[in-house]
Amino acid sequence: MHTSVQWDVIIIGAGPIGLSTAWNYARDHRDQKVLVLDQHPLLTQLAGTSGEERHWRLQYSELEIFRLTLEADKLWRQLEHQADRKLIHRVGSLWFGDADVWTNEGQIRQTMTSMNDMNLPYERLTMAEIERRYGFTGLDSNYEGFLQRDGGVIDVKSTLTTLYSLASEAGVTFQFQQGVNTIEPDASGVTVLTSQQRYRARKVLVASGPGSKKLLQQLDIELALSTFEMACISMLRSQRLETNDPFWFAFQAPVESDTNLFYGFPPNPWSINGLDRLGTDFEVDPITEENAPSYQANPHHVERALEFARRHMPFLEPDRQHSASSCLAVLPSNPSRQFYLDSARGRCHGGENLVVSAGGWAFKFTPLMGQICADLLDEREPRWDISALRF
Ligand code: BEZ
Repeated sequence: MHTSVQWDVIIIGAGPIGLSTAWNYARDHRDQKVLVLDQHPLLTQLAGTSGEERHWRLQYSELEIFRLTLEADKLWRQLEHQADRKLIHRVGSLWFGDADVWTNEGQIRQTMTSMNDMNLPYERLTMAEIERRYGFTGLDSNYEGFLQRDGGVIDVKSTLTTLYSLASEAGVTFQFQQGVNTIEPDASGVTVLTSQQRYRARKVLVASGPGSKKLLQQLDIELALSTFEMACISMLRSQRLETNDPFWFAFQAPVESDTNLFYGFPPNPWSINGLDRLGTDFEVDPITEENAPSYQANPHHVERALEFARRHMPFLEPDRQHSASSCLAVLPSNPSRQFYLDSARGRCHGGENLVVSAGGWAFKFTPLMGQICADLLDEREPRWDISALRF
């Protein structure tokens, strides 16, 4: 069926970047028609990372990205002010491990150098200090790390509902359970096809998580992205019931079976369930046509996480009760890249009418990337230098 409405902008994906873009664009163009399409209902977490919280950090190894987090920080504060709601809980960001190992999340030593360059305060910690202060045990005594106190955790549900309300108030239309099968850009706009409808817009943003790659492949735009299904395990604490322990990330050399990277969210400050969440950042067994997501945690990865908890986190009770879930992470295959965000100008016929935001642990950039996408949809040079994001 064809809808006769001519939309100014269609946003594919009601995730954080899609919602933020919808709000930013509609707020600045009250006279224009903005539509958001998503294959799922709001807040399902089926197309991306799951869980109630995400890591908020300012520090990055790469200075170009680091600069963008400082800008994102200002925009988060504005958003919190506007919504009269706390969205980031600054309980700190604790990184520890092998300071020289390079991972897709960066490297501890280089990140400390970058924090020095950017004058961002942090507390350098030995492993003995980390064990004494945060209760970890049995980690390599050569490990080291730091606490960056402005980091912490982002409240996912509050952020998404805030952006949804702001976008709705700014006049954005939402249609859920409309999975987009095809996009057809041309010189005057873009046709968007779902199983039920045919839509037409002047400009389109593709921000649909794991689905973006397939949509773009139809246009011969090949982004070097891999999707991984990662396990996350919730478990109870037996001791150390302080509520404001920091988010932590353990940088370790890879092992034969996986990338050996673990991270954890202590019980978050706004929730009463008291559970720790321990995640595996294992970039193994990418999702392919043959290897579809199971939406269940890989039992071997669950066992690896439980083993990490048994050996290094005596304040948890992994063997009393735990529950495991999985989430999809869409990550650039090139470790020196973090994200892809750009106009598709010159990449396909009508590419100037298409904007793409795909890949990376982008939740922390929600307000910033929303503004950047809105600028690109407006064919304006973004307000910030996005050369590290362009493809
Ligand atoms: C991040 O801060 O980007 C991150 C946190 C947890 C797992 C992977 C990445």
